[in-house]
Amino acid sequence: MSELRVGLNGFGRIGRAITRILLQRRGHRLVHVNDINQDTANLAYLLKYDTTYGRLSENVTGSEDTLTIDDQRIRVTHHADLSEVDWRDVDVVIEATGVSRNEQQAQSVAARVGTVLVTHACPSADFTLVFGATETQFDPKKHRVVSTSICDAIAIAPVVKALREAFGIECGFVTTLHPWLSYQNLMDGPARSQAYPGNVYSHYPLGRASIGALIPKPTTVVSACERILPEIAGKLRCMSYRVPTPCVSSADMSLHLEASATEAQVLERLEALRASQGARKVVRITDEPLVSVDYLGDDHSCIIDTRWLMLNGGRQLKVVLWYDNEWGYSSRVVDALDLLR
Ligand SMILES: NC(=O)c1ccc[n+]([C@@H]2O[C@H](COP(=O)([O-])OP(=O)(O)OC[C@H]3O[C@@H](n4cnc5c(N)ncnc54)[C@H](O)[C@@H]3O)[C@@H](O)[C@H]2O)c1
Repeated sequence: MSELRVGLNGFGRIGRAITRILLQRRGHRLVHVNDINQDTANLAYLLKYDTTYGRLSENVTGSEDTLTIDDQRIRVTHHADLSEVDWRDVDVVIEATGVSRNEQQAQSVAARVGTVLVTHACPSADFTLVFGATETQFDPKKHRVVSTSICDAIAIAPVVKALREAFGIECGFVTTLHPWLSYQNLMDGPARSQAYPGNVYSHYPLGRASIGALIPKPTTVVSACERILPEIAGKLRCMSYRVPTPCVSSADMSLHLEASATEAQVLERLEALRASQGARKVVRITDEPLVSVDYLGDDHSCIIDTRWLMLNGGRQLKVVLWYDNEWGYSSRVVDALDLLR
């Protein structure tokens, strides 16, 4: 497999996690970063010192148009529009700003560059690539704008797919517990939109102090899953809590199965899913008595916590998953690069 030259649009939590994973794996090379933060030294600082993942051992400096990581020089630009950036030095662009306008420009950029990966559920994408669910249908020659979906959906979809195939799913609820995100407030205020900068989100509770409360909110996890698994359309409903922790999410699923099952049969099916993933780190299974922070830095899309696997009357199933919403997700984005060449 040849090395790809990677361009990154957005050097935030996901952009920097991808950068760290690229540095660890050394399979592809980051050559260009674009971020509206005009201070390249600040981008270098944020990569070097990370409250969640710790200090990077590499020497990192930034000045004007260059970010230097040890002896690796990365071009830095500061455009607000994805399509304004001169991407001629890259083979693939990863759009990781979360800004809707940039997602809409992905098709025109892909026509110039080759491929754009969008780190979000993206209706205008040619394909949604989720390991353990859709990767066998991925055609890198045909699919040029590729959504890598959202962290919650890449965790849930492989498990839902496996359970549906084995037992059928009549209906169910998904509740996710998601750490705070960069656009939330420290103190009560308007709920700022990441997708539409300058706009206020109409779900006012999301503007409440993020460190002081569990904030119930709507989530797009089911609509994102339906894009990956059209066969579950209309069967699941969902909600989420933003929780006052910096990283690692959980999903609590209550599924009503079509066929009656035993816990041993469900475990056997989940074990078969784990065994079928090959080299990819889609699913891990554990029964260790752990808490969210113990999954920090785990590079699987999800970890199934079998301590909480319960059946009620043979058809009502509860499954609890954990996932590092930054590191696990970004690891799959880097895996996606491997499929491009
Ligand atoms: N954080 C997560 O847990 C997570 C998980 C999966 C997917 N995602 C998705 O990844 C995307 C980024 O999320 P994040 O958490 O890294 O956000 P973030 O706020 O940490 O990072 C966004 C970065 O983009 C930059 N930026 C903003 N507008 C820009 C523009 N117009 N042009 C160039 N740069 C711009 C910001 O300066 C910032 O550095 C979102 O779509 C999000 O939904 C996030």
